[in-house]
Amino acid sequence: MTALVLVGMSVTDVDRRDDLLAAAAPRGATVAFLQMGDPSLSLELTRLGDLGVSAITLVGVDLGPLAPAHSWLRRVAGHWFRERAGRRPALDIATRLITSLDDLDAALSDCKPISGTEPGLTSAAWEDVSGHRRQVLICRGPRCTARGGEETMRALVLGLMEAGLGDNDVLATHTGCQFPCNQAPVVSVQPDDVWYGDVDPAAARAIVTGHLVGGSPLESHRLPR
Ligand code: FES
Repeated sequence: MTALVLVGMSVTDVDRRDDLLAAAAPRGATVAFLQMGDPSLSLELTRLGDLGVSAITLVGVDLGPLAPAHSWLRRVAGHWFRERAGRRPALDIATRLITSLDDLDAALSDCKPISGTEPGLTSAAWEDVSGHRRQVLICRGPRCTARGGEETMRALVLGLMEAGLGDNDVLATHTGCQFPCNQAPVVSVQPDDVWYGDVDPAAARAIVTGHLVGGSPLESHRLPR
């Protein structure tokens, strides 16, 4: 018995879960997520391994601009493979991420095995807490997500990238519900204790330039404290 798993790489792919499921269904494949989604890749691999699947093929799916690199899929798959030593299926991985679900068949024609010698989940570069001055918390709870949180997140993160603000300047973090759901989509900035509501993509861009770059909160979308 063999299995194919489509692996969503970013929170954008979690939002596109239905599209991934639609692409997986005709092939008898399943869907898992590298982060922020359920099931995680590790849980899905364990489930398939416990079912007695003899070979699993992974295809990383990157439908948005914010996915981690392909190497992360190899790292996580390699970690699982090592941990599962002695009772594991063969594990293949498509050599590139697909940015369109129409590319799935092409990706399946170029796969390589996971050997267990892939880099691990740790690195000297990831030892310390970053030196960021601010943390921007982007709500991805149910109400904010239903009211445009995905677009808000994308505009904020792309705005930070365009402004040259990295993790050592502003740490962007996805969160569950931050509580003032009536004001969705909600974004908060710490340690400034500044909260924003109704943050559409234009407001998100303005928060980046006005607050995170310029230091002045965007009063038009600021929530009372
Ligand atoms: S879902 Fe975002 S504040 Fe509740």
